[in-house]
Amino acid sequence: MPLVTTTEMFKKAYDGGYAVGAFNVNNMEIVQGITEAAREQHAPLILQVSKGARAYANHTYLVKLVEAAVIECPDIPIALHLDHGPDFETCKSCIDGGFTSVMIDASSKPFEENIAITRKVVEYAHDHGVVVEAELGSLAGVEDEVNVSAEDSSYTRPEEVEEFVQKTGCDSLAIAIGTSHGAYKFTAAQCTRNEQGILVPPPLRFDILEEVSRRLPGFPIVLHGSSSVPQDFVKMINENGGKMPDAVGIPEEQLRKAATLSVCKINIDSDLRLAMTGSIRKYFADHPDHFDPRQYLTPARANIKAIVTHKLIDVLGCAGKA
Ligand code: G3H
Ligand code: 13P
Ligand code: ZN
Repeated sequence: MPLVTTTEMFKKAYDGGYAVGAFNVNNMEIVQGITEAAREQHAPLILQVSKGARAYANHTYLVKLVEAAVIECPDIPIALHLDHGPDFETCKSCIDGGFTSVMIDASSKPFEENIAITRKVVEYAHDHGVVVEAELGSLAGVEDEVNVSAEDSSYTRPEEVEEFVQKTGCDSLAIAIGTSHGAYKFTAAQCTRNEQGILVPPPLRFDILEEVSRRLPGFPIVLHGSSSVPQDFVKMINENGGKMPDAVGIPEEQLRKAATLSVCKINIDSDLRLAMTGSIRKYFADHPDHFDPRQYLTPARANIKAIVTHKLIDVLGCAGKA
């Protein structure tokens, strides 16, 4: 089937008590690892592209890689989504350039300005059959194109969501309930430590999620910053020349719970980066004389597939839902 929007996916996810995985793509091996997992698990899928990904890989290359995945996976619905669209022009360029969904992230702007920018994107997108994700509240964390300090982050205010959705006409809403971008989601001071010395982060604010859902019945909610930072990959990195002390993510059981509620889309990027980096570091530690990218990218792609398979089955609950 051709690329789809997220409308039908989200309706089924909301009613079915699961979430669709939204995974960031930057190159062919990442696209292949994710889509092979989704095809095998018969799961609906969102492939998302950030501003940084477009700068790195080029819009056309990424669209064509995703189109290749659509051909290879004819039986599952796949949406192509702009992640963290920074402005109208970037959203327009993706809408004109084959995406079926865009995010306009004006969450750092004042409320009225966020509404105005989002409304403008929604009007253009809907005229072109494309859906729009917006954001209220802002997550802490650092990525190439997303950089919000802990002091500047803020939970979503539930009392604002009805007016925002009604005035913007957005199709889904990303909210801030304590998730955060990147592999260092919390400082050691924000966490406790378990018996193994592993940092345990503060729990997500399910009270905010529940109040938002009560105010927006049936409306799809999105969680960003939802990598769990698997400690086996952190260990693989650290044992093979890396240095990522105290990397910490969101416990998977909390994401599982969110997926059974109104959360229909869960964004995962850092976990794939860790899988890829750990695999490549280990490959070179084991084979210091090798230099063929096909050799070291093979286990990297396999481990991306393995972690996505695990997310689809055990975290998102969307295996078999295509
Ligand atoms: O939330 C951000 C995503 O992880 C994409 O990160 O801007 O470094 O491509 P990026
Ligand atoms: P992570 O950094 O937790 O993977 O979040 C990714 C994300 O939110 C992309 O928009
Ligand atoms: Zn994000």
